[in-house]
Amino acid sequence: MKFRSHLRPAFQVLVLSLLASCAPAPANAPRDYEPELWQAGKDVVWVPMASERVEKMLDLAKLTPADFVVDLGSGDGVTVIAAARRGARAMGVEFNPDLVTFSKRQAQRAGVADKTEFVQGDLFQADLSRASVITLFLLDEINLKLRPSLLALKPGTRVLSNTFRMGDWEPDTTETARSGCANWCSLYLWIVPARVDGTWRSSEGPLVLKQQYQKLGGALGTGALAAPVLDGRLNGDELRFTAGGAEYRGRVKGELIEGTITTGGGIRLWKATR
Ligand SMILES: C[S@@+](CC[C@H](N)C(=O)[O-])C[C@H]1O[C@@H](n2cnc3c(N)ncnc32)[C@H](O)[C@@H]1O
Repeated sequence: MKFRSHLRPAFQVLVLSLLASCAPAPANAPRDYEPELWQAGKDVVWVPMASERVEKMLDLAKLTPADFVVDLGSGDGVTVIAAARRGARAMGVEFNPDLVTFSKRQAQRAGVADKTEFVQGDLFQADLSRASVITLFLLDEINLKLRPSLLALKPGTRVLSNTFRMGDWEPDTTETARSGCANWCSLYLWIVPARVDGTWRSSEGPLVLKQQYQKLGGALGTGALAAPVLDGRLNGDELRFTAGGAEYRGRVKGELIEGTITTGGGIRLWKATR
């Protein structure tokens, strides 16, 4: 299936959104059913991701056989099948029942039916509880609607999107194809951060963390002696920042952060509790 390379990106987005509500999907899937490029979908049309982009997306996720991938709006199953080929388990959620039947057939042909599930349903109602990786090729506004559910997932869950972003939640990594890609060439990775905003008690005094997604600011200590929290960042449940010239690293385990402080004088253990 070829992309329409003459369509410019902004126009492509417009087309993706406008066509979403046009022609209804066929009522059932005959054995020779083949999806049609740009066919209507509930909230966005069907355009498959190019297989090179799918593979790159899975590389960016550092996918392993231990992962459980959920592709929201799974289309013809290309991402789910590619993930299963790498040994992961994967589930697609797709509103169009014909695409669900088609995907199941494709998974069977690819010999990965036992590692894949295709669920007919609305992506906004999908069960994300088993996901360690979520993949998306939707629209900015759909990603934004999904964002609260994604941020509530287990810290460290990797969220990937082709082309469309998450508003002011900046990606942790961006990859843009330099050649051989005509449309939808940027991939984004977000790592769900632990939730640490608020006040913690620590051996170094009170630690106030101000969290904006994976970025951290705040202060350590009290009054005039408080040191600003600088270069603060979360990578899933791993936290790091500097304060008062020392480097703090730690792992967030619910109401506890345990890690180390590195200063000119060496490394010592550190912990903070809510
Ligand atoms: C741009 S395609 C992406 C397909 C696939 N993820 C890929 O990367 O090739 C978007 C898919 O989302 C499906 N879709 C649209 N709105 C949906 C919704 N509310 N719930 C589930 N699927 C939906 C469409 O039918 C279409 O197959």
